[in-house]
Amino acid sequence: MADEKKQKDFQNRVEELRQKEGETKKILKNKEDEKEGPNLEKAKLTSQKPVKSKERDSSEPAESPMSPVGLDIGTTNIVVSQNRRNYIDSKRELDAFFTVPKSKFAGNILKKNDVLYFEQDELFYIFGYSAENFANMFNTNTRRTIKNGIISADEKDGLSVIQAIILSMLKKPKNSGEILCFAVPGAPFESKDSGSVVYHEECLKRSIDHMGYSPISINEGMAVVLSELGDNDYTGIGISMGGGMCNICLSYLSFPVITYSIQMAGDYIDSMVGMSVGEPATKIKSIKESNFSLSSAPKGRIDTALNIFYEDLISKLIISLERVFSSSDQMPMISRSIPIVLSGGTSMPEGCINKFETILSKYKLPIKISEIRLAEDPLNSASRGALMMAVAESEE
Ligand SMILES: Nc1ncnc2c1ncn2[C@@H]1O[C@H](COP(=O)(O)OP(=O)(O)OP(=O)(O)O)[C@@H](O)[C@H]1O
Ligand SMILES: [Mg+2]
Repeated sequence: MADEKKQKDFQNRVEELRQKEGETKKILKNKEDEKEGPNLEKAKLTSQKPVKSKERDSSEPAESPMSPVGLDIGTTNIVVSQNRRNYIDSKRELDAFFTVPKSKFAGNILKKNDVLYFEQDELFYIFGYSAENFANMFNTNTRRTIKNGIISADEKDGLSVIQAIILSMLKKPKNSGEILCFAVPGAPFESKDSGSVVYHEECLKRSIDHMGYSPISINEGMAVVLSELGDNDYTGIGISMGGGMCNICLSYLSFPVITYSIQMAGDYIDSMVGMSVGEPATKIKSIKESNFSLSSAPKGRIDTALNIFYEDLISKLIISLERVFSSSDQMPMISRSIPIVLSGGTSMPEGCINKFETILSKYKLPIKISEIRLAEDPLNSASRGALMMAVAESEE
């Protein structure tokens, strides 16, 4: 009898230990999951889909999405990305506007010609690519809602225009509270003014919330990492060279370890070249975008000036990398070398990667670089990365 009792006690004890072991394993598994951050598996599948991107067609009506959305509101462009069954659909609209006096007659003509506009204070606010056409006709510049990457303090109606541009592409979501992830800039390098970035992010968050989405933000450089560095375990340096700023993110296993921005990019090149050769910045911009290469010897004054200010921008960007990484106490101890990926419209001229490599070789970063590569689709990679984050965050 005593033996029987002993055996029963022993079995109970074993069962107790088994249960404890199961619980410990569960706790460890949860800890592992916590370490992984957002679940990027489904997002990774999204990133493997081809991107179909285009400039937005103003006759195309806005749609109500049925799935998460990625959004990049930049100094030059606003890009909306959506996850279709077999591809990622990215639409791009110019982030610019132009005002003309309101009249019934003009209103009818604008409607007939699919010009995008809204009315406010006795004015028609024409926005997007249509604004550029109008500005060219009036031989002047468009007005911009964003300056140096941040909501412009000079334009009191900037936020209304941004809202109108987004609403012209996206209506309220089919499922209320659908996740919309939008890219935001990092705090400016060597500036104590990070308040404007906070204001920018908060204003956009409120606008998006108002549209019926659940807004989440992602650093623009981090969005580039998500979009381009899936094969490197999301470890590397993502750089978005846009219109108003360059955004930089050093990511380790999908965690943004260091993020910051420098407030100069394509607009800086246009205006410095324009001033140097006595031509309007808009003219320089269109020359730069259509037939400029950094790999051939410069021909003529504008080409030479473009070369000089591209080198100037890339040097300043690399000096910032050296200073920020060397002085940061956040720098991860990574023994292997990591890639740099360049994206954004300003990284697009032929030869940009080689130029970056040549200038980088003159500096010493506290981290080894394995390669420098160009994003697959530089104008859309931030919004694609934002879409990936939206997909990951909307997982059950
Ligand atoms: N093919 C090209 N060659 C050179 N520059 C280009 C080309 N296409 C676009 N750009 C430049 O890229 C810039 C716009 O890039 P992008 O759309 O990435 O910026 P953004 O996201 O609107 O701005 P930001 O992120 O700085 O707020 C502009 O300065 C534009 O002139
Ligand atoms: Mg950008």
